[in-house]
Amino acid sequence: MTVNLIKLALPSGSKYDIRIGSGVNSKLGDVIAGITDYRSLALIADSTVSKLYSEKVSQILEESGFAVAQFAFPAGESSKSLAQMEELFGALAEYRFARDSVIVALGGGVTGDLAGFVASTYMRGVPFVQVPTTLLSMIDSSVGGKNGVNVAGIKNLVGNFKQPIYVSADTDVLNTLPELEWKCGFAEMAKSAVIDSREFAAWMFEAAPKLVEHDTDTLVEAITKTVEFKARVVVADERESSRRKCLNYGHTLGHAIEAVSQNPKVLHGIAVAEGMRFAAFLANDIIGTEPGFVEAQDELLSSLGIQRLGRKFDVDQIMERMLHDKKSNGRTISFVLPKAPGDWVVQELDPSVVREHVEKWMLG
Ligand SMILES: NC(=O)c1ccc[n+]([C@@H]2O[C@H](COP(=O)([O-])OP(=O)(O)OC[C@H]3O[C@@H](n4cnc5c(N)ncnc54)[C@H](O)[C@@H]3O)[C@@H](O)[C@H]2O)c1
Repeated sequence: MTVNLIKLALPSGSKYDIRIGSGVNSKLGDVIAGITDYRSLALIADSTVSKLYSEKVSQILEESGFAVAQFAFPAGESSKSLAQMEELFGALAEYRFARDSVIVALGGGVTGDLAGFVASTYMRGVPFVQVPTTLLSMIDSSVGGKNGVNVAGIKNLVGNFKQPIYVSADTDVLNTLPELEWKCGFAEMAKSAVIDSREFAAWMFEAAPKLVEHDTDTLVEAITKTVEFKARVVVADERESSRRKCLNYGHTLGHAIEAVSQNPKVLHGIAVAEGMRFAAFLANDIIGTEPGFVEAQDELLSSLGIQRLGRKFDVDQIMERMLHDKKSNGRTISFVLPKAPGDWVVQELDPSVVREHVEKWMLG
């Protein structure tokens, strides 16, 4: 079985290892013991992941000489809140966690974002380790140091940057991941491949049948390629001022769909996939795309098991969300528009142009 190691070194001076593969969590205690002298760990997980993995991970950590206290919070996006942070601060204080403690975030992006923000603020900052348990968190949220919580109904309104000291992405934990969460991860992988390069997009196209079968070696390679892509982007633009915006491909419409959809709510990755299809359709009309690009991207997403949504949403609500997204200036709408794999531009569009295309999209 393949195990890959990525050594990330950021312009700010932060350096950390990202280990990817089957069984890498078994080394978690030894690795943390090798990079810090601290011996007190707070293991933070959501209620679902905690039941599945906290005991096992605690044991591994204790075998390496750590004193471990487990904390669990209710699973779901609504836990990315200031109220939940306050509860965790209180619990950490009760356990007398001091600055010589390490926080271990065991879970998906919600846990990583919440525990990362707690780690960056508790006692003015304690080190933290990311142990991602969803495909999405392995390829995206555990790398790059962004954290935060939702406030006033706005996603990630409050947060900051804090890099982990280590990331352990053990593909074994994905065995319990629900199928829809796999698809969300695949969507973000496809996004990275299309934005990165012709080579990565072509590789992904070939790998799709094995990925949907959850073939471990293909999965480890796909996670590694996606993390390497994210690492390249983050190294070039650690604090998201320019190039890192390419990671928002598919997210302009995606975030709006995620926000306005009800019963059932469309999950983030699935909404992003729809946003990618829409952005390619928009790009084709506005700047022109390479012949066959739109169809190839559609096929890639479909082969990963992500079909077009085919749901109608209220166009006024969608427009309102896109115009008042926290990254928007309120007058124009920013889109990452692809021309071909690895070739894209970020463009501010007039809302009337976007609206016309959203209306057409909803009909199609
Ligand atoms: N910081 C960043 O750079 C960044 C990037 C992308 C997304 N995000 C954030 O990540 C969050 C989404 O992450 P997510 O999709 O991982 O969500 P999540 O953490 O809510 O996990 C999804 C669901 O899967 C369950 N789960 C997790 N691991 C499991 C496992 N191994 N087996 C069974 N069930 C498991 C969780 O309990 C949860 O119900 C959003 O809040 C988003 O804003 C952050």
